[in-house]
Amino acid sequence: MPRIASLLPPAVARRHHLLERLHREGTDTYRLLHGIAEGAPGVTVDRYGGVWLVQTFRGPLPAGEVEALQQAANQALGLDLPVVCNHRGRPDPDAPAPHQPTAEALAERVCHEAGVRLPFQARHRGQDPWLFLDLRAGRAVLRAAAAGQRVLNLFAYTCSAGVMAAAAGATQVVNVDFATSALAVGARARDQNGIAAARCTLFESDCLPVLRQLAGQPVQRRGKHVPYPRIEPQPFDRIVLDPPRFAKSPFGTVDVVRDYPSLWKPALLALAPGGAILATNHVPEVSAADWHELLRRSAAKAGRPLRDLQPIALDADFPSFDGQPPLKMVWATV
Ligand SMILES: C[S@@+](CC[C@H](N)C(=O)[O-])C[C@H]1O[C@@H](n2cnc3c(N)ncnc32)[C@H](O)[C@@H]1O
Repeated sequence: MPRIASLLPPAVARRHHLLERLHREGTDTYRLLHGIAEGAPGVTVDRYGGVWLVQTFRGPLPAGEVEALQQAANQALGLDLPVVCNHRGRPDPDAPAPHQPTAEALAERVCHEAGVRLPFQARHRGQDPWLFLDLRAGRAVLRAAAAGQRVLNLFAYTCSAGVMAAAAGATQVVNVDFATSALAVGARARDQNGIAAARCTLFESDCLPVLRQLAGQPVQRRGKHVPYPRIEPQPFDRIVLDPPRFAKSPFGTVDVVRDYPSLWKPALLALAPGGAILATNHVPEVSAADWHELLRRSAAKAGRPLRDLQPIALDADFPSFDGQPPLKMVWATV
């Protein structure tokens, strides 16, 4: 058995309890092999519903190794699923012929998290397949606290967190992102779960002016003539704040390393009394302890001191060497 495929049976054994729980709750989407932390630098193996997805971030794998991974995964889980390999590292002209997946495996398909249908595309221009699996533990906390609540999902991407919240009974969900194509996937996710469009809206906009208006703060922009949608301040009971590491826009810069408070403070101000924020930080160089301290300090400075700050641990399909995974999540209540 090629070396990487031989890593799968022990990785599946380590996930035994998690997989039992996920299958019980209607989740068919998880990571089976998590790169270097499990002895496979630059290689991950995921199940997305009815497909194995092998992603490579350094060199692509020869087709034979991809097929060996497929066989090992099917055997370990007692399934018979096709495999797709998605190389996300630099293209390599000398690499062996890429694995050729079936057309059916490459089509847009649906996977499930806690019984909720979420669209994915296994190989999609070398990018991620529309659903970030490591955020599952955060989505679970949101889901448990969503019934009867008004939810704002910032940097919503394909709206998976917003759709999960709506499926869990949120009365109103507003998903904000400036990427039209990502929101279009979100619309399909919403519709595939029979969620009324009015209860789970998609707002195509820069998040910065939206957030500042919701917080009652003046909008900053580079140039007087940059248009933005005008909105009235309205309170939200739950806010998802899952920003990218760095992004520039006409309304400022998202910079999670140098300036998390410029997102965090207005998010706190947009929160209804007793509300909660699911916040993330994906940057490996930022330690959980430093980030938590910053969140506490800047909340106090903004006049919205935190009642509680609960770190959310990643599920066991995202192991790390030292218990310091790059993705940090908290559930913060005011
Ligand atoms: C890491 S993804 C967020 C993942 C998402 N929260 C989820 O649950 O899957 C980052 C998203 O932020 C969006 N984005 C980045 N800067 C933005 C901005 N200033 N305004 C609106 N969207 C922005 C991108 O379009 C992208 O969809």
